[in-house]
Amino acid sequence: MKPVFNESAEKEFKDIISRYPNKRAAMLPTLHLAQREFGWLSREVMGYVGELLELPFSDVYDAASFYTMFKLKPTGKYHLQVCHTLSCALRGAGEICKHLHQKYGIESGETSADGKFSVLKVECLGACGTAPVVQINDDYHEDLTIDKLDAVLDKLD
Ligand code: FES
Repeated sequence: MKPVFNESAEKEFKDIISRYPNKRAAMLPTLHLAQREFGWLSREVMGYVGELLELPFSDVYDAASFYTMFKLKPTGKYHLQVCHTLSCALRGAGEICKHLHQKYGIESGETSADGKFSVLKVECLGACGTAPVVQINDDYHEDLTIDKLDAVLDKLD
């Protein structure tokens, strides 16, 4: 079935495009909206975004595939984005990644067998002063240790 925004998302989309000089400029917020609404950016969803913005599929795909915050495949219920750029790397991101891989039996870019957790190594999340940082869905968890991260993860249902 072709993806289509519901009434409320359609209203949000109209509000987004009203704030930009042209539809192309509204690409990133529209992709964010589409990802929030549909969970991830399938080819069908990217095609729909292209229709909305009057842009070719290739332009939408180029933008969506450039940024790691856009999901081009389904992820777990909890999507863990582990920053592995310099500040986080110096403050233990490597050990955090290793721990997550051991804990859930998955590598970066994979989802646990129960569909609950996915892990992805990402570039700087912009919170270097409180490194190391892991983003779980929309929430940042900062100044982490493995114990602190486990305390957060073990409370998720
Ligand atoms: S280096 Fe990790 S948040 Fe910037």
